[in-house]
Amino acid sequence: MSNKTALVTGASDGIGLEFCNILASRGYNLILVARREAKLNEIAIELSQSQGIQCTVISADLSLPQAAQLLFQNTKDQGLQVDFLINNAGLLHNGPFCELSLAEQETMITVNVLALTALTHLFANDMAARKTGHILNIASLAAWTPIPSQNVYAATKAYVLAFTQALADEMNAAGNGVIISALCPGYTATKMMDNPDQGATLRIPSNMMMLAEDVANQGIAGCLSGKHTIVPGISNKISIAITHLVPKMVLAKMLGRFYRKNMN
Ligand SMILES: NC(=O)c1ccc[n+]([C@@H]2O[C@H](COP(=O)([O-])OP(=O)(O)OC[C@H]3O[C@@H](n4cnc5c(N)ncnc54)[C@H](OP(=O)(O)O)[C@@H]3O)[C@@H](O)[C@H]2O)c1
Repeated sequence: MSNKTALVTGASDGIGLEFCNILASRGYNLILVARREAKLNEIAIELSQSQGIQCTVISADLSLPQAAQLLFQNTKDQGLQVDFLINNAGLLHNGPFCELSLAEQETMITVNVLALTALTHLFANDMAARKTGHILNIASLAAWTPIPSQNVYAATKAYVLAFTQALADEMNAAGNGVIISALCPGYTATKMMDNPDQGATLRIPSNMMMLAEDVANQGIAGCLSGKHTIVPGISNKISIAITHLVPKMVLAKMLGRFYRKNMN
């Protein structure tokens, strides 16, 4: 069993919940973060009883100003040391850019980009001072190409990927013992694939989706083994290889046609 502690944002559902299940089975104590406190409390009770770990629930809305700083301070006030940070919380809004509300798209940028950057900065400095730690930032296959009808979402994920890859090199050069990785899932069977709150729904056949548990497993294994970029699943690896071969605007045209046909 590990005596280490992991903080997972977006721990109440989907891939984040699977990160928690896997880390708990590896003996990590958990700090569970999301907005739905009651759901987090249920998960905390279940995992602490079944795995004998300690769970701390911190309810936080990462779209609010200073949310990352307050979350960091909350862990300090409780005397919690974070050895593994997983920046997983993320939002998607589907549909034509001008038809989606600007406020919703700004919220998406705040959670997907600003909160992730702030949490990385705060905890990376802490980890570097201790000369050890792991950070896993959740990007997406969408990070590798422009995507019409998901254009702000794809751009936020391109930021996460580029930011994380560059920081991985900085950390490595600094020799400060902090490992940072970007995980790039493709379509994954979670609420995000069928959520009425996020504009239009994209119809994707279930056989094109990975299980959240498999994605989370590969993310944790990749980060713990020091990989800076983790792409789960062979078809996602092939998709990324294609993005290196085909001009970006050709890909954008193809994806734009596909998404307009398969979104409602
Ligand atoms: N599913 C996919 O196909 C896919 C593909 C590529 C990448 N990803 C990425 O994987 C990550 C997890 O996605 P998922 O599919 O597991 O999504 P999900 O099932 O919709 O879960 C999203 C999680 O984020 C939390 N969250 C949302 N808004 C938040 C906010 N303002 N503050 C704090 N927490 C918030 C939610 O909890 P509360 O509602 O309780 O706050 C929930 O726990 C995201 O970054 C997503 O972009 C997903």
